[in-house]
Amino acid sequence: MLLLVFIQVTQASAVRSDNNACSRLYDYPVMDKSGNCYVNPNVMALTPSMIKQNGYPVLSYNVTTRDGYNLQLFRIPPDEKDNRTNKQPVLLEHGLFHDSSSWVFVGNRSLAFNLADKGYDVWLANQRGSRYSCTHRKFKTSSFQYWNYSLDTMASNDIPALLKLVANVTEKESAIIYIGHSRGATLIFMYASEHPAETQKLLKCMVALCPVAYLDAVWYIKLLSFWAPSIGRTLLNLRIPAIFYNINHVHTILCKFCSNFPYVCRLLIDISTGVTWQFLPDDLLAYYTHDFSTESVKELLHYAQLVTTGKFQKYDFGKWGNLKAYGQENPPQYNLTNIRLPVFMYYGKNDVFIKEKSVRKVFDELGSNEKAFWKIPVGINEEKYQFSHNDFIWAKQINELFYTNLFYVLDSQKK
Ligand SMILES: *[C@@H]1O[C@H](CO)[C@@H](O)[C@H](O)[C@H]1NC(C)=O
Ligand SMILES: *[C@@H]1O[C@H](CO)[C@@H](O)[C@H](O)[C@H]1NC(C)=O
Ligand SMILES: *[C@@H]1O[C@H](CO)[C@@H](O)[C@H](O)[C@H]1NC(C)=O
Ligand SMILES: *[C@@H]1O[C@H](CO)[C@@H](O)[C@H](O)[C@H]1NC(C)=O
Ligand SMILES: *[C@@H]1O[C@H](CO)[C@@H](O)[C@H](O)[C@H]1NC(C)=O
Ligand SMILES: *[C@@H]1O[C@H](CO)[C@@H](O)[C@H](O)[C@H]1NC(C)=O
Repeated sequence: MLLLVFIQVTQASAVRSDNNACSRLYDYPVMDKSGNCYVNPNVMALTPSMIKQNGYPVLSYNVTTRDGYNLQLFRIPPDEKDNRTNKQPVLLEHGLFHDSSSWVFVGNRSLAFNLADKGYDVWLANQRGSRYSCTHRKFKTSSFQYWNYSLDTMASNDIPALLKLVANVTEKESAIIYIGHSRGATLIFMYASEHPAETQKLLKCMVALCPVAYLDAVWYIKLLSFWAPSIGRTLLNLRIPAIFYNINHVHTILCKFCSNFPYVCRLLIDISTGVTWQFLPDDLLAYYTHDFSTESVKELLHYAQLVTTGKFQKYDFGKWGNLKAYGQENPPQYNLTNIRLPVFMYYGKNDVFIKEKSVRKVFDELGSNEKAFWKIPVGINEEKYQFSHNDFIWAKQINELFYTNLFYVLDSQKK
């Protein structure tokens, strides 16, 4: 009897493996034994190691913002001998709950690698609070002060710090192509509308994937936003200034949970970002171990305000707070007409945060001479191809459905 148990244990350990990706969702709970599963080196991996694993060189830079936050950027530098794009710098700015890994975790479908293959000088930003940018000159991340910022603060401090560093290192003026996904778009719209002249000295054009400015979210996100002030106040009273604080811990738990309940995790993707037909089951754990970056409660409250008001405006401190901060009872709105640079926007029909109407409103207000927006995929109405919020990061057929158009636009900016 004892012997039998012993044999079973050794047999079980003999077939054990490090599998963490499966081509079918139902294989995940048995991935150690299934022939449809394999080892995906991107699960849990950090951005620089994913860049190296894919065969690219990686550099890292640090910059400190005016208000003392240390931000880290990664760079895939172009080959010195490669003159295809004249070393055109592109800054990729990730979205809410993400970090620079957004642009590198789906192997050869990743935008960063596609840009590098074409000869671009690729820069990957990491916003304050994310795992790669979580130190401060003065404040510890365990302190309240560290997390005391809204979208306005990020836009006016982080964005210029990142752009100036890229401009300085590359020694190029008015040259950077900015590509922002979701919050990456929100932040550049905020910064560029407040500092149009400065933006023009740094950027050549901006590309917004899911241009989140006027939010028009689905009902359950509206409902959540309606309750956000009470939820936020409760969290702050409990001395919780940020959520998903211990990110390694969060990822370990999600990895275990999603291995056991892959269909639940798949459904959560549809609920939180929009129904996607373009998600590869193989990426399930890679996604869940790169999403859920730490975010400040105040910043999330700011987004909730944008959802409930439908306006693209500064943080609402309440009547008296606003009088003190802005000299008026209501928060000032961002004026997109101030933006003069070329702006190219992409959105998906299945996005839960914005609709065509929201994109058109941004488009109409932009002061740019050159501006355009597209629903991806262009000219295809078949339901299974329609993009959701995160399809711009991971879509199965991202090359045909999206990059073809994107690179056509980027090529048009070569001058
Ligand atoms: C940048 O700062 C991080 C810590 O925040 C550190 O690990 C890294 O080595 C620094 N990189 C450079 C190039 O100084
Ligand atoms: C790149 O450089 C090579 C020689 O070094 C030259 O023949 C080619 O025309 C250049 N291409 C461009 C696009 O400048
Ligand atoms: C991308 O990688 C996959 C395997 O990871 C491979 O099957 C495919 O051919 C590659 N595509 C390109 C365009 O290199
Ligand atoms: C947060 O920042 C505001 C200014 O935006 C300041 O008035 C307030 O005292 C700060 N709170 C904390 C806890 O640091
Ligand atoms: C830009 O680079 C120069 C040296 O090349 C340096 O003296 C200067 O401080 C840098 N500026 C910024 C804003 O980093
Ligand atoms: C927005 O800015 C433009 C100039 O760029 C100005 O003409 C317009 O009045 C401003 N709109 C608002 C609502 O302030």
